[in-house]
Amino acid sequence: MKIIASRTSLGEISEDVLIVPVFEGETPSDSENASALAALDHLTRGAVASVFADGEMTGKRDRWVLLHNVGQFSTKRLLLYGAGNPEKIDSISLGRLAGAAVRTLIKNRGIRTAAFLVTRKLESEAFVQAIVEGALIGQMSGELYRAKDEPAAEIETLDLVSELPDPPDFEPAMRAGTAMAEATNLARMLGYEPSNVMTPSELAFRARKMAEQEGLGFEALAEEEMKRLGMGALLAVSRGSQEPARLIVMSYEPGGADAPRASELIALVGKGITFDSGGISIKPAAKMEDMKYDMGGGAAVIGAMQVIARLRPNVRVIGLVPASENLPSGRAVKPGDVVRSLSGKTIEVVNTDAEGRLVLADAITYAINRGATCIVDVATLTGACVIALGETRAAVMGTDRQLIDDLVKAGEQCGERLWPMPLDEEYGEIIRSDIADVKNVGNRTAGSITGGFFLKLFAGSTPWAHLDIAGTAWAENERPYIAKGATGFGVRLLATFVLNRAAANQHIE
Ligand code: BES
Ligand code: MN
Ligand code: ZN
Repeated sequence: MKIIASRTSLGEISEDVLIVPVFEGETPSDSENASALAALDHLTRGAVASVFADGEMTGKRDRWVLLHNVGQFSTKRLLLYGAGNPEKIDSISLGRLAGAAVRTLIKNRGIRTAAFLVTRKLESEAFVQAIVEGALIGQMSGELYRAKDEPAAEIETLDLVSELPDPPDFEPAMRAGTAMAEATNLARMLGYEPSNVMTPSELAFRARKMAEQEGLGFEALAEEEMKRLGMGALLAVSRGSQEPARLIVMSYEPGGADAPRASELIALVGKGITFDSGGISIKPAAKMEDMKYDMGGGAAVIGAMQVIARLRPNVRVIGLVPASENLPSGRAVKPGDVVRSLSGKTIEVVNTDAEGRLVLADAITYAINRGATCIVDVATLTGACVIALGETRAAVMGTDRQLIDDLVKAGEQCGERLWPMPLDEEYGEIIRSDIADVKNVGNRTAGSITGGFFLKLFAGSTPWAHLDIAGTAWAENERPYIAKGATGFGVRLLATFVLNRAAANQHIE
């Protein structure tokens, strides 16, 4: 989908459909609040007013009416789409509206071009960005391997039409929104891919392609190199698999005259388990197929690095994805095994299904060794997080109040919302080992927190935060604004966080 802003006047739009958001309380006769509706009613010779008069359109969220060939109207179709309470309008609800409207239209095969009416109250940069993000994300389907529909269920261009005669420049918002959405869809694509395709080497290959296209530094450490460095925790997870592990490293350096303070380096670390069977501590069969999305954190980091490369914030960023399968075999790590991590800390692997924290531990130490001054890891780490927060919010925990606050704020801003969990020292007692420095699981209590606490031991004194996206990375059911399956959760959050950080640094200097 190509996003344009053609600046066509309302009566001359020639796209296959015009999407009109309608808020509760708006009617064509209330010309003060809803002049666009009045103008449309005039252009359609009363067709719009009659939809309102009959009570078919009330502005209720996700209620819609599609009109065909009305009056002398230049556009063949008019989609009136319910936007809900006008008091509650924000970027999140508006993005969802744009996504839902696009999804409604693509079910109606053959619509190739659409215009979206950016009404008076939607003119802000944040709102235009939200519309672009919502539309692009709404359009993508997860049916990667299904025969294509004819004609395609796809909108090729979306024209943002302003109600104002002299509208503001939409370009910056269009560029930011497109970057965020395309990267989110890239992450979703990686998550949808089955694990026979999306192996650790394939994930590294896709990350390399992205990095080369966008001008990021790239390397992928192979197992030999990991062995040489002493990444015993990461290698313990990949031992059971025929597919070799990779540590994907993407790096961004802001160029130009205003080079940043060389001291700051943000590390984004994403769990890249391309299939999690549980290993020797094998999972039950039910829903095991979903464990192809256990690389959702890694996909979020790859996507966020793409946004960063395109929007060029003034701060250095390194993206790390420890990628591995977790499978049982005659060579697999076994419950009770003790391994030595890159940090030097020894780990008793009591449960081979707690593999995410093992690969992340070595990647976090690697980030510190590369000079990271701040680390954010993102992982589908625990089933307990799905139980606690469901699909709506991800958990955040960490060692640095400011970092946690900044992440929570970025989440509210971009719609990928977080909820904090504690990491008191007492939780550490649950993962104390009788034989090694730490064990990789606790008891049945506080499952998400003990996972986070384990990672905290490896972050040490470097400001660090952990995002558990086990519930938010995958949508069990279709929603009006997004297909079921991989959500790309974390891309917009991490990118927004980094952009905010860079902007804040600018003010300090
Ligand atoms: N990848 C899973 C967590 C998960 C579960 C993500 C469901 C998404 C949906 C993780 O590796 C795992 O297996 N965690 C264990 C940890 C336990 C052994 C301490 C879990 O949550 O059961
Ligand atoms: Mn597991
Ligand atoms: Zn896992």
